[in-house]
Amino acid sequence: MNTFKVLRTAARLGGAARSATHAPVARSTLARRAYSTPSAQPAKSNKHWVGALIGGGIGLGLAYYVYSPTPVGGSVGPIATTDIKGEGQQHSDHAPWKKVDYNQVYKDIAEVLEENAEDYDDGSFGPVILRLAWHSSGTFSKADGTGGSNGATMRYAPEANHGANNGLGVARQKLEKIKAKYPDLSYSDLWTLAGVVAIQEAGGPQIPWRPGRADASENKVIPDGRLPDASKKQDHVRDIFYRMGFNDQEIVALVGAHAMGRCHPDRSGYDGPWDFSPTTFSNEFFNQLLNQEWVVKKWDGPMQYVDKPTGSIMMLPADMAIKEDKEFRKWAELYAKDEKRFFDDFSKAFSKLIELGVPFPEDSPVIKFQPL
Ligand code: HEM
Repeated sequence: MNTFKVLRTAARLGGAARSATHAPVARSTLARRAYSTPSAQPAKSNKHWVGALIGGGIGLGLAYYVYSPTPVGGSVGPIATTDIKGEGQQHSDHAPWKKVDYNQVYKDIAEVLEENAEDYDDGSFGPVILRLAWHSSGTFSKADGTGGSNGATMRYAPEANHGANNGLGVARQKLEKIKAKYPDLSYSDLWTLAGVVAIQEAGGPQIPWRPGRADASENKVIPDGRLPDASKKQDHVRDIFYRMGFNDQEIVALVGAHAMGRCHPDRSGYDGPWDFSPTTFSNEFFNQLLNQEWVVKKWDGPMQYVDKPTGSIMMLPADMAIKEDKEFRKWAELYAKDEKRFFDDFSKAFSKLIELGVPFPEDSPVIKFQPL
């Protein structure tokens, strides 16, 4: 199934036109697991709690849990739990976020990524769901603390209708059934967790995630213009991401998410994927950016680049800035060479992104989900 999808994607993207230069890409894609088929196992008794106290000396009151949706070797039940709030805390506190089985939510989201996706884009809703998580978080401003994933204000028309959010209704709609099943789960927790599932189930790094965001009313809607404009270059990209509190290295790592998904003429105006395996999370964005020959696409649409050999993959002007800017390029070169380093840095930066400005409850655990 995974192989089928990757092959189908490769066929759609390159077909006969794919040159020998791209063969290693296809091979590495096949070797890597792209989308996993959700486990047929019932959900019962598969939650592992591996408690390891973090920051004990800091007194944050944080318990650190590991959820394992599919236990290896069939082991069941809690392994260990450390809750420095003390016995009974989880049962006595009825905050809605504490009533949710995140292990099961993870599995349900993973199913949604592939459900009825056969005829959608490259066969997965993962990329557009990842984009929803990013756009709901990337509105943060460190100057006044407004924006960010807390609140999920993109539910309201004024923010949903921002040009940058075109097409994200698809992702919001797909996740509605999860929200209906888990009324205690906030949209802001749902959308951010869905981004984590999309990355991990596409073969990307593990992303630590915390619950406890709360949805806001419409008066918290963010003004337009906080997300990056793809037609602009490094100065603009820095303005946008520095406003959130990111540095150059984190910016480059984050934009590496363009390994996944594609541009849609009816959404952003741009057209095409960034690499030949757009349902796989990898460092391919950097490999293509640096090693491919790019030419300006000849068409009536907005200025973008396509690869010279096949014309089937693309780069945005803002992506190209990463190659052109000396400081950005340094990180892109590192990530193209060292996928593990990219995964580590991306994981940290993405965790930070989805937590920007969130006033987490003191006892909200950091959860690491195992991919299915
Ligand atoms: C300079 C910063 C960025 C710019 C200018 C930018 C711009 C864009 C544009 C124009 C699209 C095409 C939308 C469409 O037509 O459907 C897109 C798609 C996408 N972006 Fe970005 N983006 C940026 C950063 C990021 C970051 C930080 C992430 C995640 C961490 C991300 C994840 C994605 C994904 C996964 C898609 C594919 C969506 C799909 O397939 O439907 N982008 N981006």
